[in-house]
Amino acid sequence: MTALVELKNVSKVIKGKKIIDSLSFSIHEGEVFGFLGPNGAGKTTTIRMIVGLMKMSEGDILINGHSIEKDFAKAIQQIGAIVENPEMYKFLTGYENLQQFARMQGGVTKEKIDETVELVGLTDRIHDKVKTYSLGMRQRLGIAQSLLHDPKILILDEPTNGLDPAGIREIRQYIRELAAKRKMAVIVSSHLLSEMEMMCDRISIIQKGKLVGVHSVHGWMDSQSETYSFTVDDLESAAKIIKVSKPELAVKIVDRALVVQMEREQVPEMIQLLTQESIKLYEVKGVTKTLEDRFLEITEKVGAVV
Ligand SMILES: Nc1ncnc2c1ncn2[C@@H]1O[C@H](COP(=O)(O)OP(=O)(O)O)[C@@H](O)[C@H]1O
Ligand SMILES: [Mg+2]
Repeated sequence: MTALVELKNVSKVIKGKKIIDSLSFSIHEGEVFGFLGPNGAGKTTTIRMIVGLMKMSEGDILINGHSIEKDFAKAIQQIGAIVENPEMYKFLTGYENLQQFARMQGGVTKEKIDETVELVGLTDRIHDKVKTYSLGMRQRLGIAQSLLHDPKILILDEPTNGLDPAGIREIRQYIRELAAKRKMAVIVSSHLLSEMEMMCDRISIIQKGKLVGVHSVHGWMDSQSETYSFTVDDLESAAKIIKVSKPELAVKIVDRALVVQMEREQVPEMIQLLTQESIKLYEVKGVTKTLEDRFLEITEKVGAVV
């Protein structure tokens, strides 16, 4: 797979303080890649360096093979981005805004404008003044604007901030569509895990300027051994029995149930063991670990606040 964006040991020091600490990762075509982290983690700073709005202190960023520092013009040509809020002329129509932007950009055809309007679903309202647009529509116009020059990479910093659930769902759909149909690499940032989970193929977790982990949204869940919850009459005795005969298993008492991590294949054996030892077994449930559980596990390890 082609890496469209590659960060190599990127650091940023501002006034003697390390804001970004040696970030390295690659983003591929057709992929939606998320930066997830609490406010102040360094998401915007990283994005500003990727789009060349801020210089790195160390490292390099390659955009489709071109260094953003040494080969700025070639690198930036591949990127469409909205950093913070999209700027627009509110007294002009959406269409006039795009025309204005196309003029500044150069080389954008009318067909390209129409195609982009269609893509972000603004066809019906594009000739209305931007001041009549909802925040979601402005966000979509911003995306249209950043797509006019046909970039391979789209970068959106907290694109769903301030949007209502319907607006969030729309943005999510456009983002997924751009990655799937146009094979773009899309980078989005957010401080909300649930949102990232629905939008991204991979999520990088950034905390205090450091990369804590990069996880594929699906693989992340699959790689976990399963967890089962046993409702029994005597929790303490049941826990003891398991600890003695299966010392390799992790056993916990959670909400008046016995929670055991093990393979599905081991469940019948466990039921047999407990009943043999006269434990009354009322219920056995598989507990699905949510992405949130995993996220908390990872961030708790590094002692971070989410
Ligand atoms: N120009 C700057 N000068 C000093 N500190 C900055 C500057 N820009 C960002 N920071 C600091 O860098 C850290 C990361 O900020 P930012 O990238 O905006 O985080 P995020 O986007 O994840 O909320 C914060 O502690 C912020 O205060
Ligand atoms: Mg930010």
